[in-house]
Amino acid sequence: MCGIVGFTGRREASPVLLEGLRRLEYRGYDSAGLVTSTGNELHLRKKAGRLAELRKHVAAHPAPGCHGISHTRWATHGGATDRNAHPHTSTAGDIALVHNGVIENYAALKQQLQAAGTQFRSDTDTEVLCHLVAHYYQGDLIGAVQKALALVKGTYGIAVMAKGEPGLIVGARLGSPLVVGIGTDGTYLASDANALAGFADKVVYLSDRQICALTETEWEVRDHDLAPASVSVQDIGAFLGDGDSDKGDFPHYMLKEIYEQPDALANAMRGRLDSADSTAHFGGLNLGAQQLRQIDRVIMTACGTSYHAALVGEYLFEELARVPVEVEYASEFRYRNPPIDRNTVVLALTQSGETADTLAALRESKRMGHTTLAICNAVGSSIAREADGGVYLHAGPEIGVASTKAFTSQVCVLTMLALYLGRTRHLSSIQGQHVIDDLRALPDAVRKALECHDRVKEVAARYAGATNVLYLGRQYLYPLALEGALKLKEISYIHAEGYPAAEMKHGPIALVDENTPSVFLVPRGNVFDKVMSNMQEIKARGGPVIAVASAGDRDVVSVADDVIAVPDVPEYLQPVVAAVPLQLLAYEIALSRGCDVDKPRNLAKSVTVE
Ligand code: AGP
Repeated sequence: MCGIVGFTGRREASPVLLEGLRRLEYRGYDSAGLVTSTGNELHLRKKAGRLAELRKHVAAHPAPGCHGISHTRWATHGGATDRNAHPHTSTAGDIALVHNGVIENYAALKQQLQAAGTQFRSDTDTEVLCHLVAHYYQGDLIGAVQKALALVKGTYGIAVMAKGEPGLIVGARLGSPLVVGIGTDGTYLASDANALAGFADKVVYLSDRQICALTETEWEVRDHDLAPASVSVQDIGAFLGDGDSDKGDFPHYMLKEIYEQPDALANAMRGRLDSADSTAHFGGLNLGAQQLRQIDRVIMTACGTSYHAALVGEYLFEELARVPVEVEYASEFRYRNPPIDRNTVVLALTQSGETADTLAALRESKRMGHTTLAICNAVGSSIAREADGGVYLHAGPEIGVASTKAFTSQVCVLTMLALYLGRTRHLSSIQGQHVIDDLRALPDAVRKALECHDRVKEVAARYAGATNVLYLGRQYLYPLALEGALKLKEISYIHAEGYPAAEMKHGPIALVDENTPSVFLVPRGNVFDKVMSNMQEIKARGGPVIAVASAGDRDVVSVADDVIAVPDVPEYLQPVVAAVPLQLLAYEIALSRGCDVDKPRNLAKSVTVE
């Protein structure tokens, strides 16, 4: 996902812009750039590659001025090159623009502009927008931006400057987040509040189709028809997440976030478990007990790791709340026309709260008049604000592209939600209290599971050269098999697939040979014997077996080539505990392969393009 930072104020802009971009690096990018202005001159600096390349370039070629915009680009149209990096400028060089999103009708617009004589210098969709603004610009930048955006189909978060209006930044959003920051030394614009920590005291989140105009002392937000918009000014502290977003003593954000899981789980449960009534409580569901009682179906929709958490949620809701659940990929759900009746609730799961497919699925559900809920980590994000109600994870900023603590926190919140729903139905207070006791013990169980790290390093060393890996589990651990496979492939670039363990017999076992290790999730439980048989089937075909098993399980040791022990917890919480070795295994293998663990190739932390 691209990142945007703008500043107009009473100090040099480029250090502010570069620091803001540094805080947005976690979103994933492949080039970066900035433009500042002095008087009526624009100073454009942009480079492909990491932010360090831009820093070096700016150090060698300073960009003076107290007014500027900047960008980290995650390529959608056109490769990661200097000329495709943002900001883009108009032919006359009097307009500069940065953009996060996709202009879906850029080809048609580009043809029209080229027919009128415009020369293009990049392969991007964004450049079209820059020339459109220039086309309409006659000294009124906000008016020119409004006219240009009226022609655009797609999504955008933009920041624009004009040589003729020094000190002015115009921003606008549709689908890609944008926040105004109000500070003592100027006014800011950014893709998310984390870029403004320490700079701005107050923030104003733009809503879709709003346009803002910032100068060093003033700011205003207008609707798409340029009428003044009503917005709320809030303290930035509410949006900065609960934990600090530095690595601390850890070499990578991902490892830090894996080790933060016991605390993240405690934060997710804090103030929400109610032993008096043997249930859970949430402040932001905005659904009364009567409405909850009437829910007769839940559709969970998400992407990636959040989708895997939702699959665990399906088992949890059916077992604890006896509520039927369907889990849908958001990118598919938004185009389907499922027969959703009156008492169906659509529950979106998302760490970032900005995933375009999930946001679109939520909006489609709202358009159809359904109650929508969100389980989200990023406070104040688009999905969190647009859902009818929801639950924050309180996991703190998750910077590593590979999601870890968000997954286990999502499963924890889903367990509490299932408890809450179950206790409005058939779950007895004794059963409810057992769930509460199990949840309270979870942070310590995960802390104990982290003790497997040294063992995981040994296993990783043995299998880092694999080219194909299978992950297999049953029941609550089938979704974790999918998640373990995703972790490995997205940071080590090894192909991996997750399957229900029994499904091996129906085709995938043809893949098994001595070079194809299988990771079995086989802690003690009601399907233990069945999974043991599946392990034997793999062994009989010469396939190496890595088992995540209950500590001290001698049966597993007698079959598996490598065993990683986890503490015993009730089956419905095994996905949380058994996630730890899988996260660590992916991390250690990726590290041994020299991969960029926090910023894996081709990926972004939050995918705001469809
Ligand atoms: C997970 O490790 C990936 N980074 C990715 O699949 C991610 O889970 C997905 O893009 C959904 O993101 P969200 O939870 O922020 O919506």
